[in-house]
Amino acid sequence: MRTPVLAGLTAAAVSIGALVGADGHISAEQIETSVNARQSHMQLYSFHIATLGGMAQDKMPYDAAAATAAADSIVALTTLSQSRYWLPGSDSESFEGSRALPAIWAEGSDVGDKGAAFVEAALAMQAVAGTDLDALKAAMGPLGGACGDCHRNYRVRNE
Ligand code: HEC
Repeated sequence: MRTPVLAGLTAAAVSIGALVGADGHISAEQIETSVNARQSHMQLYSFHIATLGGMAQDKMPYDAAAATAAADSIVALTTLSQSRYWLPGSDSESFEGSRALPAIWAEGSDVGDKGAAFVEAALAMQAVAGTDLDALKAAMGPLGGACGDCHRNYRVRNE
């Protein structure tokens, strides 16, 4: 179950054969659609991690079922195919509205490793989210940290 998210990110630049038109061109519309899709995917991570974070920060009462549902949802999201989200030409310097740094596609990119670390942290959270609040809190740091570690390296910073 761990491969898809990585395959999505690491194989991004190579698995696009079917999208390239007869003239070898990926249309602006295809780029826009893929940027929208990956940003929506990220929004879903955000939505579910807010539940876990709210409990971890004592802003909402601990609820084992809700915590488990949120962690399960994050793990489920990591298993969706993302390979067509990350088209060449969809980086922040090539496409307005994208905050994905060109470094993702550059030689030596370790975005796949960041993705792997994130999947590990999501699975660790899933394993304990329904146990108790202390276990959830302990898993929250690595999970939030994995999101942040990728963003720090591969996403344009907020102004
Ligand atoms: C492997 C790298 C990576 C991981 C892991 C990752 N992100 Fe992202 N995230 C990105 C990139 C790159 C963008 C910019 C995408 C774009 O603008 O096209 C982004 C964008 C976002 C956005 C903005 C979406 C929008 O509407 O523009 C949110 C919110 C977000 N991420 C939340 C999260 C959360 C929460 C997690 C962890 C649960 C997470 N991300 C994990 C790379 C990552």
